[in-house]
Amino acid sequence: MSDFVSGFWGRFITVLALGGIAWCVWLLFSQRRWLNKAPGGAVEDTGHVWDEDLRELNNPVPRWWTWMYLLTCVFALAYLYLFPGLGAYAGALGFSSAGEVRAQQDKLAESVKPLYARFAGMDPAQLAADPGAREIGQRLFLNTCSQCHGSDAKGGPGFPNLTDNDWLHGGSPEAIAQSIRDGRHGMMPAWKGTIDARMAGDIAHYVRSLSGLAADPVRVFRGRREFGNYCVACHGVDARGNPALGAPNLADDIWLYGSSEASITRTILEGRDNRMPAHRELLSPEQIQLLSAWVWNLSRREPRERP
Ligand code: HEC
Ligand code: HEC
Repeated sequence: MSDFVSGFWGRFITVLALGGIAWCVWLLFSQRRWLNKAPGGAVEDTGHVWDEDLRELNNPVPRWWTWMYLLTCVFALAYLYLFPGLGAYAGALGFSSAGEVRAQQDKLAESVKPLYARFAGMDPAQLAADPGAREIGQRLFLNTCSQCHGSDAKGGPGFPNLTDNDWLHGGSPEAIAQSIRDGRHGMMPAWKGTIDARMAGDIAHYVRSLSGLAADPVRVFRGRREFGNYCVACHGVDARGNPALGAPNLADDIWLYGSSEASITRTILEGRDNRMPAHRELLSPEQIQLLSAWVWNLSRREPRERP
């Protein structure tokens, strides 16, 4: 109820709920003369007759029914006093379903703590070498990350490959943990207003030439100059990117969106806006520690344990 942006709806619902109960009680009250008729007394005859002798009588409802009706109204009032139901009023018990979920999450976290206790003092290399830690890391990855990065962690268009040792934001265990914990936001600005389609094509040819892909030398020549004007601030003079900005290396033939001239031109003209969601609410610090070691181990250059 507290999600309403204006206080009006909270009051509206309070009036509806209390008004409904008051109306029910009034209804009963307004019928009291009829209800109070003595059970053995004269019964009102509606005058309707069927099949010659089947008369319709208007008997009062039994007394137990009246009591049940009243008790239902009392129950509703008590319920609305104890639990949230009247607009923004939180209820005397302070109950909320979000609080209930949080309590269950805390209980779960408490119960799995001993599982993680063994890994507390280990560094990423030790975690990568520990079969138990790797198993948990992989399971966490499949549960929380594979929808976007793929069950083999190789990603797809817009979702980075985590196994290729090429990083937008840095590949140290700490940088990976930060990507998981706080999320990432990759923002390449749109250049439509400044760069026309032909010039964008020239730059695309230059960008393709950087990783040895087929490109027209004349357009590469023109593109190199424009790249120096517009792109080096983020991607660097050597086009090798900048992890502090999440700007990818454009010289390594590894692509987030594809290497075709059309895809690169589109990135230049339209820009790209890409988000990795923060996971600190979903994963505990211990889980993030195991998971980042597992991801780090996927592309480690040194001799390493297979996941
Ligand atoms: C909703 C989709 C989504 C989910 C779920 C997701 N990611 Fe991501 N992740 C992305 C996107 C998109 C990016 C790229 C952000 C950018 O362009 O800068 C990214 C970036 C990353 C990076 C940085 C890569 C680099 O090159 O620096 C890491 C590491 C990462 N994710 C790991 C994970 C892990 C581990 C999980 C599971 C806890 C996870 N991601 C869950 C979408 C997702
Ligand atoms: C303000 C910084 C900034 C500038 C300036 C900039 N870029 Fe980017 N660029 C980025 C970021 C950040 C990304 C990653 C976007 C993402 O994570 O989705 C990116 C992504 C790209 C990609 C996609 C790479 C891939 O792997 O698919 C290309 C191509 C690219 N930029 C080319 C250029 C060119 C050419 C210019 C000059 C016209 C330029 N960028 C200017 C920040 C910048």
